[in-house]
Amino acid sequence: MPTRPKRSPRPASAGADVDPQQQPESLDACRRCALWRDATQAVPGAGDAPATLMLVGEQPGDSEDRAGLPFVGPAGRLLDSALAEAGIVRETVYVTNAVKHFKWELRGKRRLHRTPAQREVEACAYWLEREIANVQPKVIVALGATALRAVLGDPHARLNAWMDQTAKAGARTVIATWHPSYVLRAPDPAARDEARAHIVEALRRAHALLRRR
Ligand code: URA
Repeated sequence: MPTRPKRSPRPASAGADVDPQQQPESLDACRRCALWRDATQAVPGAGDAPATLMLVGEQPGDSEDRAGLPFVGPAGRLLDSALAEAGIVRETVYVTNAVKHFKWELRGKRRLHRTPAQREVEACAYWLEREIANVQPKVIVALGATALRAVLGDPHARLNAWMDQTAKAGARTVIATWHPSYVLRAPDPAARDEARAHIVEALRRAHALLRRR
């Protein structure tokens, strides 16, 4: 069982143990950015390869960091219910994150999520590119702005601009929607329902595109 780091995180700046040019063989050996220092473990994607549909989130959360699996905490439960409502069996989908280590800060006794910096997303593109090459998805659903930017390779891509269109990343179709955590943080039930409905609709669009092929 992974153990929880006892220390508070150091600033995620580069140091002697970080090399953005490193080309590691394994995620566990990755030192391309400093996030490995304070994470329990790297969290790779999960699912069979090849898979026609890939879902990309931002980074592991507290539960995922402990379990070593993506989307198994509260955001994962929301994603599971949205997948079920869209008629998609999670086991048929490859699920991963733009960044493979949990970035956090200590508040009281809780490890709170911190948004990864662009340099960390870029360092981790090394792994996302390998996953995409291995999984060969036809459609990628990007969950939130960090995922969208990572998948498009465009640090300036705006989620709102892409939410109701389809984008392309090479030969692959990209559909963008809210991150499940955005739904969990929504200020009121109406906003929550609307954001969740957008995720379900994005998954349905992805599913429909794949059935048409
Ligand atoms: N949020 C993410 O983006 N990914 C996870 O795996 C969990 C929470």
